[in-house]
Amino acid sequence: MIPKETVDLILDTSRIDEVVGDFVSLKKRGANMIGLCPFHNEKTPSFNVNPARGIYKCFGCGKGGNSVNFVMEHEHISYPDALRWLAKKYNITIAEEQKSDEQQARDNERESLFVVCGFAQKYYTQQLHESESGKAIGLTYFTERGFRPDIIEKFQLGFSPEGWRPLTDAALQASYKIEYLVKAGLTIQNEENPDKYFDRFRDRVIFPVHNVSGRVIAFGGRTLKSDKKIAKYINSPETDIYHKSNVLYGLYFAKKQIIQDDVCFLVEGYTDVISMHQAGIENVVASSGTSLTVEQIRLIRRYTSNVTILYDGDPAGIKASFRGIDLILEEGMNVRVLLFPDNEDPDSYSKRVSSEELKEFIRHNTKDFIQFKTQLLVGDTQGDPIRKAMLIREIVESIALIPDSITRSVYVKECSRIMDVEEQSLLNELNKIRRKNFEKRKDESARKPEIQHPETTEHDGHETGFVPDISAKPEETVSPIINCEAQEREIIRLMLNYGTQQIDADSEDEEGRPTTVPVPLAELLVHEIRQDQIIFGDTAAQNIFEEYARLLDSGTVPDLNYFTHHPQAEISKYTIDMVSIPYSLSNWERHFIYVQTEDMILKNAALHGVYALKLRRIEMMLHENQKELRNAANEEELLRILQQTQQLLEAKKYFSGMLGRVVVR
Ligand code: CTP
Ligand code: MN
Repeated sequence: MIPKETVDLILDTSRIDEVVGDFVSLKKRGANMIGLCPFHNEKTPSFNVNPARGIYKCFGCGKGGNSVNFVMEHEHISYPDALRWLAKKYNITIAEEQKSDEQQARDNERESLFVVCGFAQKYYTQQLHESESGKAIGLTYFTERGFRPDIIEKFQLGFSPEGWRPLTDAALQASYKIEYLVKAGLTIQNEENPDKYFDRFRDRVIFPVHNVSGRVIAFGGRTLKSDKKIAKYINSPETDIYHKSNVLYGLYFAKKQIIQDDVCFLVEGYTDVISMHQAGIENVVASSGTSLTVEQIRLIRRYTSNVTILYDGDPAGIKASFRGIDLILEEGMNVRVLLFPDNEDPDSYSKRVSSEELKEFIRHNTKDFIQFKTQLLVGDTQGDPIRKAMLIREIVESIALIPDSITRSVYVKECSRIMDVEEQSLLNELNKIRRKNFEKRKDESARKPEIQHPETTEHDGHETGFVPDISAKPEETVSPIINCEAQEREIIRLMLNYGTQQIDADSEDEEGRPTTVPVPLAELLVHEIRQDQIIFGDTAAQNIFEEYARLLDSGTVPDLNYFTHHPQAEISKYTIDMVSIPYSLSNWERHFIYVQTEDMILKNAALHGVYALKLRRIEMMLHENQKELRNAANEEELLRILQQTQQLLEAKKYFSGMLGRVVVR
């Protein structure tokens, strides 16, 4: 633990232009500095550094943050490690607080597992290169598969010799404890006879698995026997340092290239990763042994938002790729697919052709998921309308998973063109599916007891026919979602940017005559939000609001800087994204800027912000209300709901009126 004062000192001392300047050459551009983004490949600079605010933002790839975020992202290290990195740069000494004994013990144990795995890796590698059987069986096998010596070395491949417990014996000989060998999954304890131990990996070639920082955490062992009864691969079990679903094979070797190419290739196995590397394609990882998980996708997202799935064209590979597509889309990432010809995988194919041909093949055959699904299924739908309809539904179901509405509509257009169906009917289908998914998600979260933010999920479709005036804008049919994100962001933005500024709030004097009193804008906003007990739908926004209000109660008005440098990544990210949006100048700023005094502008803005959020809330409640109406069980309930509808409609009219008074559109 780094003491709080030291953290503050580090944050105060660090200068974003200096920190970024260590890696990026920056040029002055007005108040900002600008350079080539280190997080994606670009030729014209779109990476902005704002020294006054202590933040950076890339308008090409969207990455943004403060000094600590930059170091975390660039060096791929944790928050505390980034603080240590900055402390070192600025010669700040950290007197680390004592860890609790329990924490210390846990750290020691994990460290012991790393050490034992490191030992095992060296042992297996030595066996491969120096023992008779290793050379004759293991090394020969790798060489015959066409693995080059430098690649065998880079991936630290090895060989586990025959016999019950050669590794265990060697480790005990070198004074490693049996406890850790077992906990690391290298040694297995005989269940009936607990004094007996044996090696997990025997007579196999070994593929060590590395974590993102390059330490060995697990192993995969491939048998060289063709006996079908023997499992082709044996893998380390789950351990304290190896959680299969959070690990991607090859990521340590791939991460640099993934960032540079801004795409990650996803393959199935150890040998695919290694062969692609050998062919000069290094941005490759494998989910090895498990089917792709959400955690693994999020791991990739730290480096890029583009994934290309490279799978074997057999039915199993196709099925796995379908699942992968949906998972990746759901995480808001872009997915493309390349199937290798049947009986061919990246490993075998890369061995058959030259490196150039392989790259060429990938370039020409990679398809987006719609082209991919259509190409696969369209062959047998020719002239069969029912199968065509099924295919369309299949595609639309994938599109429905994409969180971003603009991306969704781009794909709808493409699907409409390729499948030759009307865009509108695709949209109808899409909305139906999204509504169903939404209901499903809501049911699921209703079953979980800990829902604190009932509005965090998107609200879908409102073509219920009961309240026609809600669904006003035509483009809302594309993304019929009701949420308050924009309105919430506006409130937070006003609070953080102008919170300390005084405005004249309406009040009454002692005799009850209308008058005005000056108050800080912050107080007006917090008062308005609290008055109606509004909970922000966005968790980050809610956290910011709560912390802001708490500080305000204790007499300080926190500024923007406080939140852009907030230790909670979610909060700093929200704030930085908010101030970095180049078009964040809202209507009121553009309209009022020359015509009114500053405090009038601000007051209008604040009231507009508050009313807009409240109105939006009411619309959401009305939407819920309409659903209830349809499900009303009896007349009594129906009456109650109708009464509620009436009240909500009145409130809506009131706030629309208020909004009309303060806003000039
Ligand atoms: N796998 C596994 N257990 C098995 C079979 C496969 O854990 N019994 C995992 C391994 O991580 C393997 C991946 O699934 O790398 C893909 O399987 P496969 O294509 O059969 O293996 P390859 O890596 O292609 O191995 P090889 O080319 O040597 O057959
Ligand atoms: Mn293979």
